[in-house]
Amino acid sequence: MQLSDKKATLSFSDDSASVEFPVYQGTIGPDVIDIRKLYGQTGMFTYDPGFLATASCESAITYIDGDKGQLLYRGYPIEQLAENCDFMDVSYLILNGELPDANQKQDFDSLVTHHTMVHEQLQLFMRGFRRDAHPMAVLTGLVGALSAFYHDSTDITNARHREISAIRLIAKMPTLVAMAYKYNQGQPYIYPRNDLSYTGNFLRMMFATPCEDYQVNEVVERALDRIFILHADHEQNASTSTVRLCGSSGTNPFAAIASGVACLWGPAHGGANEACLQMLEQLQAEGGVAKVGEFMEKVKDKSSGVRLMGFGHRVYKNYDPRAKLMQATCKEVLTALGLENDPLFKLAMELERIALEDPYFVDRKLYPNVDFYSGIVQRAIGIPTSLFTAIFALARTVGWIAQWDEMLSDPEYKIGRPRQLYTGSAVRDIKS
Ligand code: ACO
Repeated sequence: MQLSDKKATLSFSDDSASVEFPVYQGTIGPDVIDIRKLYGQTGMFTYDPGFLATASCESAITYIDGDKGQLLYRGYPIEQLAENCDFMDVSYLILNGELPDANQKQDFDSLVTHHTMVHEQLQLFMRGFRRDAHPMAVLTGLVGALSAFYHDSTDITNARHREISAIRLIAKMPTLVAMAYKYNQGQPYIYPRNDLSYTGNFLRMMFATPCEDYQVNEVVERALDRIFILHADHEQNASTSTVRLCGSSGTNPFAAIASGVACLWGPAHGGANEACLQMLEQLQAEGGVAKVGEFMEKVKDKSSGVRLMGFGHRVYKNYDPRAKLMQATCKEVLTALGLENDPLFKLAMELERIALEDPYFVDRKLYPNVDFYSGIVQRAIGIPTSLFTAIFALARTVGWIAQWDEMLSDPEYKIGRPRQLYTGSAVRDIKS
């Protein structure tokens, strides 16, 4: 970051002296006021619940312009990456800062491919879970448990350990997600196969059985790969901030990523894709397109507690660029699978059409987010709703691990320790 000529001055309405703070500039986006000396100089903290105006770190990985609806990974627009790259290219880019050349791509692919198997004993660990457990409950446990199976890469001060654990996490997530699915289905696990792509391998581990192999459909493979690309990173969102905060204590990478999985599960974050599809299915069961008007009235009535899931975003105050790409992917997949008349897709398009014209949504700048269409794509592919957030976690793992590594490599890195405005009882004594 670069020091700006500008300075920020904070003055007070009483006679206290004003204080001056340096201002830093990034490459693009808002400048930041460096308030690190605020407490030392004034004895006061800043108050910003929900981090509405707080940059918690410096980062060179992902940039979002929420007003323009722009998303860049390492400077490249998401539209160009989705069009020209696969998830392995994007993972390499997010981790290393540059797109791979042909040799680098081959080496990276091979490295990831050769780490896709998981320790055999994880199968015994799995057996402790109920068969009907939510896949995110299972995944939170499995990812955390990796630290018990791979202690040889948990020294966070060793760059080589950090690199190996990053590759292990990226490579093993598809295997773990597929295992969570198979366990729930009561089917045997399918081992990874090294001649398939990252995404093709995941599809096969999900849908093959020992009785029948799975032929990877290229349109489906490309669509799922695109879902992975669109979810790979999203700067300092709730789960990434969780990973950074958890990792800032010096814990091992598997534990830090498990905290991200747990955070992602919530319906205001990664759980929204599952909640969105449930919403569409329920609306379809209650009458479908004919009932959209009535449903929208409920959404606008705050006392109903109903939100239009897959709509709205803390940062995007314009169309989420990922939602546009997802809508196009949705059309492609439905056409390729002969599901052009999918009623849920029609319903989603109608909800979007009404919302984009309705002053409630227009005034609040509420647009579809990535989750609005991703559930319909995944459902068409055959992925059960309860697994949607686990797929999101699989894709976001590369972003989490890159952000975690960036934090540890930053010479200014400190344990994350927010302060508070205390409003509880003042000191008091127990009555004897
Ligand atoms: N449906 C109806 N009203 C909404 C919605 C929605 N989906 N989202 C926001 N609003 C309204 C709020 O009621 C509020 O109205 P008010 O100003 O009259 O009180 C206003 O829009 C602002 O909303 P906030 O909740 O204050 O915005 P915030 O930035 O805190 O929340 C969030 C963003 C959590 C994503 C929210 O829009 C939401 O709950 N959306 C639905 C869940 C969802 O799709 N989450 C996925 C996010 S993307 C991701 O994680 C991949």
